[in-house]
Amino acid sequence: MKLHMMTWKEVESYLKHSKGIIIPIGSTEQHGPTGLIGTDCICPTVIAERVGEEDGILVGPTINLGMAQHHLAFPGTVSLRPGTLIALLQDYVNSLRLNGFRRFYFLNGHGGNINTVQAAFAEIYADHSFSSDTESPGIRCKLANWFAMPEVAKLARELYGDKEGHHATPSEIAVTQFAFTDHIKSAVLETLPPYRRFPTDATDFRQCFPDGRIRSDPSLARPEHGARFVDTCTAAVKKDYGDFLDTGL
Ligand code: NI
Repeated sequence: MKLHMMTWKEVESYLKHSKGIIIPIGSTEQHGPTGLIGTDCICPTVIAERVGEEDGILVGPTINLGMAQHHLAFPGTVSLRPGTLIALLQDYVNSLRLNGFRRFYFLNGHGGNINTVQAAFAEIYADHSFSSDTESPGIRCKLANWFAMPEVAKLARELYGDKEGHHATPSEIAVTQFAFTDHIKSAVLETLPPYRRFPTDATDFRQCFPDGRIRSDPSLARPEHGARFVDTCTAAVKKDYGDFLDTGL
């Protein structure tokens, strides 16, 4: 159930039986020589939409831009500043709060978003605390990182071991291969210099990681692996979302 494919009347009737929504969030950034620029958006969107279809849960429009400043030295990367993403998340959540939504489950595809999204949640809660509205119930937000869910991390270890790495990972690229079989890319992967430090900015990042990967071997990715990641993560998100609605955790 995609919000942008529904009418306001359909959303109104959804709100009569649920106050929850899943919102995919990603980033538009380089993903090594074989990864699609939209990898971090595609993965959580595919999983969220599967959950939404199977369990009748509303899925909001994907936030396609995130914290990608490290990747700006590679063509095609588009980044927000932290303050911009925080403001965007405040407006997104507060709009839906006015409509009656109370539980916001963000399914995230990009590790670089985590700190900023948590800061946005703090701003959103402060919006309510500082308002004079003491009557209406507060809202609750949760951040779930699809790639870090225990069942997903376990499958990545089984399939790729330490070749999973930290950026342009075979697991995320496998999901995009499964979702878009006509966009599978190949390239000769260079031998990378040894890992020394985590870079601070875009220029430093490209010096440390010349082809954009961080200790990963994306040539191991297969579309059939992607199908397994989507199945595994769909089951994990259904349970996690259910717990979130029940307990708020
Ligand atoms: Ni990624």
